Amino acid sequence: MRSEETKLNFLLLPFMTSPEDYLRQDWRIVHDIPMVCAFSYHWERIDNFQSRPDDIVITTYPKSGTTWMSEIVDMILNDGDPDKCKRDAIFNKVPMLEFAAPGKMPSGTEKLAEKSSPRLVKTHLPVQLLPVSFWENGCKMIYVARNAKDVAVSFYHFDLMNKLHPDPGTWEQYIEKYMAGRVAYGSWYDHVKGWWEKRKDHPILYLFYEDMKEDPKREIRKVMHFLGKDLKEEVLDRIVYHTSFETMKENPTTNYKMTPNDVMDQSISPFMRKGKYSHRH
Ligand code: A3P
Repeated sequence: MRSEETKLNFLLLPFMTSPEDYLRQDWRIVHDIPMVCAFSYHWERIDNFQSRPDDIVITTYPKSGTTWMSEIVDMILNDGDPDKCKRDAIFNKVPMLEFAAPGKMPSGTEKLAEKSSPRLVKTHLPVQLLPVSFWENGCKMIYVARNAKDVAVSFYHFDLMNKLHPDPGTWEQYIEKYMAGRVAYGSWYDHVKGWWEKRKDHPILYLFYEDMKEDPKREIRKVMHFLGKDLKEEVLDRIVYHTSFETMKENPTTNYKMTPNDVMDQSISPFMRKGKYSHRH
């Protein structure tokens, strides 16, 4: 019954909501967490999502280096071949589980359904909202945490340019909301802590953006071992080069220039903004 309902919702999705209903709208509460309005419809597609045992989940609080880690994992799986990694935009190679923009773009679950294994799955969900199927299947997960202050600055600029989010207001207004956890995906603190605790009983590689900046090769090697791969030093060097901020900023498949302009207006703030860290954890 439930799955028939879900199927029907999928079919009706494009007809039930349109961009005017969700662009620049306030967050919607889903399981007690503020959620991007466009993603909030038909949440049963997330709760009931069926993982595959070899899915690799890349999970982060927003603006913590998700795209960077996604490109690193894709490069490792493709033995550091930059041409293979340019086969498609990052958001198609590594679909975001909860993403939806009805009437504009295919949802994350639709994209994932078409992928061959092993699938790379991106998500920003707090640990308690991840579909249970991922725990049941024992899927490998990589979590990236980033300093809360740098995340706040990055998130503010992202909200300014990303029309799927409400307008953030002034920085002063924004930082109050951020500190109270009244932003997409809730409190930064609860998020990093929830995933940190979970790594004690599940295969989660927990990494830090600042460590990746400090010594990218060292951190890429950790990811490689976690994925059970063994690549030569020169391949690792190539991956470091192709996943550097400067290279990814110029790469049309990683700089988000392939998203519609009326959703992400990069003339306001580029997706690849600064890629720096100002505080050590
Ligand atoms: P800034 O806004 O501080 O520049 P996410 O992918 O989770 O949305 O995170 C985006 C942040 O990661 C942005 O931070 C972006 O510039 C930064 N970023 C993306 N690719 C990077 C890379 N290769 N090296 C360092 N930072 C990167």
